[in-house]
Amino acid sequence: MRLESDTGAPERIETPLLVVLAPSDRPLTELVPLSRLTGGVLSHAISSGDFRGRSRDRFLAYRRGGKRGPERILFQGIGPVDDLADATLREAGGRAVREAERLHVSSLAIYLGYLGRELAPRWIEAVAEGMVLSSWRYDELRSRLDAGSGEGEEERPPPVEVGLVVAPPDAELVGRVRIGHAFASAENRARTLQARPGNLANPSQLAAEAVRIAGEGGLDLEVLGPEEMESQAMGALLAVARGSDEEPRLIVLSHNGGEAGAPPVVLVGKGLTFDAGGISIKPARGMEKMKYDMSGGAAVLGAMLAIGRLGVGMNVLGLVPCSENLLNGSATKPGDVVFSRAGKSIEVINTDAEGRLILADALHYATDWSPAAIVDCATLTGACVVALGHHRSAVLGNDDELVSEIRAAADRADQPCWPLPLDDAYRRQLDSTVADLRNVGGRPAGTITAACFLSEFVGDVPWAHLDIAGTAYGKTTRSYLRDGPNGSPCRLLLEWVRARAGF
Ligand code: BES
Ligand code: ZN
Ligand code: ZN
Repeated sequence: MRLESDTGAPERIETPLLVVLAPSDRPLTELVPLSRLTGGVLSHAISSGDFRGRSRDRFLAYRRGGKRGPERILFQGIGPVDDLADATLREAGGRAVREAERLHVSSLAIYLGYLGRELAPRWIEAVAEGMVLSSWRYDELRSRLDAGSGEGEEERPPPVEVGLVVAPPDAELVGRVRIGHAFASAENRARTLQARPGNLANPSQLAAEAVRIAGEGGLDLEVLGPEEMESQAMGALLAVARGSDEEPRLIVLSHNGGEAGAPPVVLVGKGLTFDAGGISIKPARGMEKMKYDMSGGAAVLGAMLAIGRLGVGMNVLGLVPCSENLLNGSATKPGDVVFSRAGKSIEVINTDAEGRLILADALHYATDWSPAAIVDCATLTGACVVALGHHRSAVLGNDDELVSEIRAAADRADQPCWPLPLDDAYRRQLDSTVADLRNVGGRPAGTITAACFLSEFVGDVPWAHLDIAGTAYGKTTRSYLRDGPNGSPCRLLLEWVRARAGF
């Protein structure tokens, strides 16, 4: 993405498509010079009241005569500037790119000069995010990049190169575009990892991706394999991996942007690269979606990339336990008891409740750093989809202040979550007749009992858990996303880290 400075003359911008964001509470007469370029048609639309800058108003016009300036101008209403939300601008950035795709133009510029002199830096960040997020697509496995998507009859449009024009940009705006770009491209990276099928994103391949991410973000990386896990007594993580020919991996990315020895914050993501359920096998229908069971891990890998690239002034650790959950002759069976790193024995009632097992050892490993806080995210329970559907993740934790921070970050990123309680009373559902605890708590409150289980492994470190089973992929209602994997909650995690680091 480019950021261009212009002295305030959008009619001189050379581009196949200029998208002009027009508010409804500013005089539209400012648009008249641009309207002249298109033979005055916009002026008619304004005087007739057809175009008023309301958020649904849009108007496409073509350059009439002349060889300079934009070939097409899309006037896009954004409603009143006075209560302009970041989400509206993220949407606007996405709609602009979708329009470019529809028109099959390969580049576009968005002009923000009419938003007024008070152009808020966070607005430009939101537009940048919307543009970068909307230009993501997953085509690394197609032999012909112009082939159809398989659904529509239309040919696939070319990738769109996006540019932002503000008049005149200052250092703060340039910095905000850099942040928006870093956040959104990190989330795009997470989406690509999610989209990758299980045979191309197994634990070793995710670890190889972590090597590349460490290089790109200037991060330190350690990868634990089965031997290191044995010597770390990570019996819960190893128990899940037993049923597969693929070895598990624990990815440990660190960014040392804070003072040496200052307690880090730790991000932990479930990296289950394919969840067949193990011996408690899942039904065949829809099982292919379980390649997305590493979505939490993908979000953490993406977040670490942005944290490294932006040189965040804080110590941040990213842990991703990676395993497959398959079944063979050595697979863990219902009724087996396994021994976690924390020293607690676990009776495995259902091998499909594997996420909490791999997280148990990863969370306990995180406590070795005496962190300031731990936040984990995981496609953990089907019960969460029943409780909250596809519009909000669940958030639970042992520290109300941390949960509030996560909720605020979620709202800023427009990746909303909602709290569920974590009372001691639920813990009894995990009582085992033979071990310290069992890995399932029955049907009632499945998301809560899963979080209860995790809470047993974080000691007294402030910790919050996001259950993203209903939100990490699926149909979208946002212009800047596509149906399928959406990278969530990568930007949520980044907004939280940013609030902690104060940038
Ligand atoms: N990965 C699944 C949870 C999931 C379900 C994610 C649907 C996305 C969509 C998890 O490992 C799982 O299978 N959980 C079980 C737990 C149960 C056995 C206690 C579930 O939710 O059914
Ligand atoms: Zn499972
Ligand atoms: Zn799972």
